[in-house]
Amino acid sequence: MGHKTTNTGRATFATRLGAVAAAVGSAVGFGNIWRFPYITGQDGGGAFLIIYVLAVLFLGIPLMIAEFSIGRTAHRNVVGAYRKIAPGTPWWTVGALGLAVAMLILGFYVVISGWTLCYTWRALTNDFSATVSAMQMADASLDAAGALTADFGNFVSSPIAPLAWTILAIIINAGILLGGVQKGIERASSVLMPVLGILLLILVGNSLRLNGFADGMRFLFVPDFSKVDGHVLIDAIGQAFFSLSVAMGIMVAYGSYLDDSTKLGKTASQVAIMDTLIAILAGVVIFPACFSFGIAPGQGSGLVFVTLPAVFLQMPGGYIIGVLFFFLITLAGITSCMSIFEVPISFLQEELNMSRKGAVAASCVFALVLGIACSLSLGLWNGFQIAGDCLFDFLDHVTSLYMMPICALLTAIMVGWALKKNFLEHAISNGGKDSAWFVTPLVWILRIFAPVAILVIFLSGIGLI
Ligand code: PHE
Repeated sequence: MGHKTTNTGRATFATRLGAVAAAVGSAVGFGNIWRFPYITGQDGGGAFLIIYVLAVLFLGIPLMIAEFSIGRTAHRNVVGAYRKIAPGTPWWTVGALGLAVAMLILGFYVVISGWTLCYTWRALTNDFSATVSAMQMADASLDAAGALTADFGNFVSSPIAPLAWTILAIIINAGILLGGVQKGIERASSVLMPVLGILLLILVGNSLRLNGFADGMRFLFVPDFSKVDGHVLIDAIGQAFFSLSVAMGIMVAYGSYLDDSTKLGKTASQVAIMDTLIAILAGVVIFPACFSFGIAPGQGSGLVFVTLPAVFLQMPGGYIIGVLFFFLITLAGITSCMSIFEVPISFLQEELNMSRKGAVAASCVFALVLGIACSLSLGLWNGFQIAGDCLFDFLDHVTSLYMMPICALLTAIMVGWALKKNFLEHAISNGGKDSAWFVTPLVWILRIFAPVAILVIFLSGIGLI
């Protein structure tokens, strides 16, 4: 029957490589190509990098293993999985929280996906240079970066164009997701991730020829510890969670599609290594480009949509490099977006007995409605504020400052304290078949280190320490 399933008939990924491609596809997203470089830029380059790698090793990987263990042991959607692992207890609410995080993130992630599609199109049609010339005609004092900043602001706050691109992003996701776990997610990831890798290597090759290469490398790799303070630590931990897609139900959902002989520790480490490598390579692409054209790398969130188009305009061969770059970030966005979608889709299929088609349709309609509201909140509906933020920023803040730390904290406590130690040992060793030498340090990380670290970021994120 062609399809590999568990003995309950539930879908699993067909191959190890496909499973890793899907999980790496989820992990590698705007977090790697946009957020990691700009936070590294703000937080001291190499010094941030060292702390980030430690956060991935000692917090990110342990939490990913915990989430894989929950998903793979239960073979259920995120809510069903927490319930099945700890039956008759309120721990299922942590699964529900993960589901809620995924649904809220979906609202702004589809909008950013739409922006990347639009910018790929604009790069293809050479629209950045046309825009800059037109804007400079109107105001001769504008430089390229100034023109592109104003242009980006106009684009995201306009009522129609970003919505059209958001809808296209949702349609692309729906097309893949309708194919299911193996023929949709796994197949798409297995094709798109190698393409992403090749694009990235071409861009790294281009970076080598830039005269700012050495400065860029120095910035990224030579640590400047004078910039390190509590806030840099917090950024590093927050970025590690976001980038590895933990604390939002995704790795529980993808873990539930792993077969019973997959080594969870090895898989989580492979995903984390690839994710970190790709983030670093994105830095290798971006920083030399900034230094070559005298643009400060610590520009913040405008780095990808404003700074880089300005850099590409000046770079020899910048047209093709720009097209490849925006295509790269679009691919990264699609494979991440589909993993967020899979959280509510698997929930609807299993808990509400919907068909795959119905679940995909319902999730897309939800993403569309929330996406429209998010997009309009940057323009037309900007007057409508929640806790001082427009809806777009509110969803970003409420998920990353409150909901994700709480979800991560409770997951660590549940696996570390509430479940028996042999839950983790059984999951990691595949029922005793494989070695689980790291289970003791892992349990202690989940019991003590992770909760303390997460509590500290949580309290400081909300301004209490
Ligand atoms: N981990 C992905 C990234 O680095 C993004 C992601 C965030 C995916 C939130 C799902 C949910 O961008």
